[in-house]
Amino acid sequence: MPRHDWPLPAVLAHRCGGTLAPENTLAGLDAALGNACGGVEFDVMLSGSGSPVLIHDETLERTTNGRGPVADTPDEILRALDAGAWFDRRFAGEPLPTLEAAAARCKALGLAVNLEIKPSEGAEEATAEVVVRRARELWAGASELLLSSFSERALEVAATLAPELRRGLLVSAIPKDWQMRCRRLGVVALHVAHKHLDATNVAAVRDAGLWVVAYTVNDPLRARTLFEWGVDCVITDRPDIVRSLRP
Ligand code: G3P
Ligand code: MG
Repeated sequence: MPRHDWPLPAVLAHRCGGTLAPENTLAGLDAALGNACGGVEFDVMLSGSGSPVLIHDETLERTTNGRGPVADTPDEILRALDAGAWFDRRFAGEPLPTLEAAAARCKALGLAVNLEIKPSEGAEEATAEVVVRRARELWAGASELLLSSFSERALEVAATLAPELRRGLLVSAIPKDWQMRCRRLGVVALHVAHKHLDATNVAAVRDAGLWVVAYTVNDPLRARTLFEWGVDCVITDRPDIVRSLRP
């Protein structure tokens, strides 16, 4: 199958700004751009009010001063949370971003986006429905958006609701039936934990016409090797040191 050129930057900052700023925050987006990184990955989940917000964990404790499940917390409570102080006092008062706020900041900064649909358990369809509809509006006609998810159900919903939006399947190791799964889901990329990649399986995925995205690559020498094997994109916590190795 013919491969097209990878449409996003070859290095994406993980969870907005990697370890340069609190994860999944607007400050992280600023940090990515401030380190000459032209694109980011971030995680999107539904709040208790059904709104898409940027957060990785299903619960608030690790990355905010809130408590309890994100899926049980209404927007008015989320709006008052501090998502920056846990990381460093310099970031105190940093809000937990809505998808709308993140999209606006990415557009203002010119950042490309890999939006990971991150449903809380049991909310795969509902999360995909809301996130995909909103993403379609927010990035209307733009080519610098790639959806991804570990949830195949979420990717199915995305394919139905917005077939024009590119999608990638997230896996840890490459499953034996990856070709069948990717074909069924109509994804254009396979996102793989980098420790499970080697020259042979990268070539096989590329030969199938798919882009290869490696996460989370924080060692510049490892990034160089992955690019030499033909990996199209690395997602990194250290855009400040990995970005210089992009092809
Ligand atoms: O999309 C790559 C990576 O973000 C997937 O893992 O747990 O950091 O969201 P996680
Ligand atoms: Mg992620």
